[in-house]
Amino acid sequence: MSLVCFPFKEEDVAIVVRNLDCAASHPAVTGILCVGFSRGETWCAIENAKPLLEKTYNVRVVLIQQKRYGNALRGGKGDGMNTALGYFLEHPEYTRIHFYDADIVSFSAEWITKAEKQADLGYDVVRHYFPRSSTDAMITWFVTKVGFALLWPRTVLSEIEQPLGGELLLTQRAVEVLFNDPRVRAQSDWGIDTLYTFVAGQAGLSLSEVYISEGKVHALYGGLRDLRTMLIECFSAIQSLKNENVPVGGIHRMESAKAVPELVKQKVGYDIEKTLKLLKSHWTPRQRELLQQHFDSVLVKGLLNASEWPSWSFADEDCWVGAYHKFLEHFEKGDEDWEELLFKVWVCRVLNHTVRNVLRGYDAAMGSLRDFIWDTVQKSTLQQFKLSASAPIHTLASGHSAFESLANGKGKLRKKPKWETDSDNMCIVKQ
Ligand code: LAC
Repeated sequence: MSLVCFPFKEEDVAIVVRNLDCAASHPAVTGILCVGFSRGETWCAIENAKPLLEKTYNVRVVLIQQKRYGNALRGGKGDGMNTALGYFLEHPEYTRIHFYDADIVSFSAEWITKAEKQADLGYDVVRHYFPRSSTDAMITWFVTKVGFALLWPRTVLSEIEQPLGGELLLTQRAVEVLFNDPRVRAQSDWGIDTLYTFVAGQAGLSLSEVYISEGKVHALYGGLRDLRTMLIECFSAIQSLKNENVPVGGIHRMESAKAVPELVKQKVGYDIEKTLKLLKSHWTPRQRELLQQHFDSVLVKGLLNASEWPSWSFADEDCWVGAYHKFLEHFEKGDEDWEELLFKVWVCRVLNHTVRNVLRGYDAAMGSLRDFIWDTVQKSTLQQFKLSASAPIHTLASGHSAFESLANGKGKLRKKPKWETDSDNMCIVKQ
């Protein structure tokens, strides 16, 4: 008795209706819940498709507008997903809820089946993960995965492949844990995925990740500016959790990945030319002051140079980790200058990754990202051991909040990751 939820805004109507049909025809599904941001063209199309879907497949199709749960933050994806959790808990005839973006071109019955099969084994949460382009998922890698690795390296959080993924199954138990947590209901914006992942991990819910080999084919981004709000909201979500403790370990199973389709390997995740312009724009005297006041001299010099001519070579992994600590400590959401600084440093990190790693090919690029997280986990774990003077194997909780540990360390990474080239081997264009 599963409910499938599609949160939607204005989408390609034909794709949405096709996806509803696909979900409605699945034998495990008895209800479809469409949560709309507003009542526009997509809403009307779903309303029109509803009678035939209900008749053909003997399912209930419900269309509701998202409610406002988190009054302090922007009303966005979080309110939509939480509206679905609220509906689910009011309808105990459903025992599981699935979430899928409404605009996925590659959606199929297999996505539902794979998740259902893991839930049958008793997992509380099942997440889908996908092969992604080496220039896609730049918030996932450089904000969420790094944040989890720095703050909670010994927990399941640091192992989750795509912690920002919006495709997942939650059992009744998981929904109760999430919906009854005031932090989750307050997170009405893009930070919701971080909160679902974090709270599930903190509560010790068991997790299985299933692999969808054809990938998630959906609308692409333009320049990185399209991701600015998401970046800020995802970072701020991590920052709001920095003093939390999470139990070490946790039950986590992961299906192995398969060969990545050529189409995914060749896809460029963002428009590089549009992105270069971002480094020069929207500077204020206060941004320069904040930069000088809080950040390492390499970053200060590098970013100030970038304000005149596109440059990014300074923004390597070490530099990003150093900056990440500072942002965790001082960033203020809603402060335009802090937001712009976070955005600019992240843009440089993404450009640095693109030019230093992505140009060397898909496997090298993905290897460098994985290496980065692996090394961050290693370094942060050792630092936490040092601080709690605990034995590696036997300790179940550090007794320190993760951030306390970090604040005492330098946040430096290894000298040279395995997947990185020497700068001597690179063709450097003098700027
Ligand atoms: C991410 C966004 C860009 O996963 O989709 O980073």
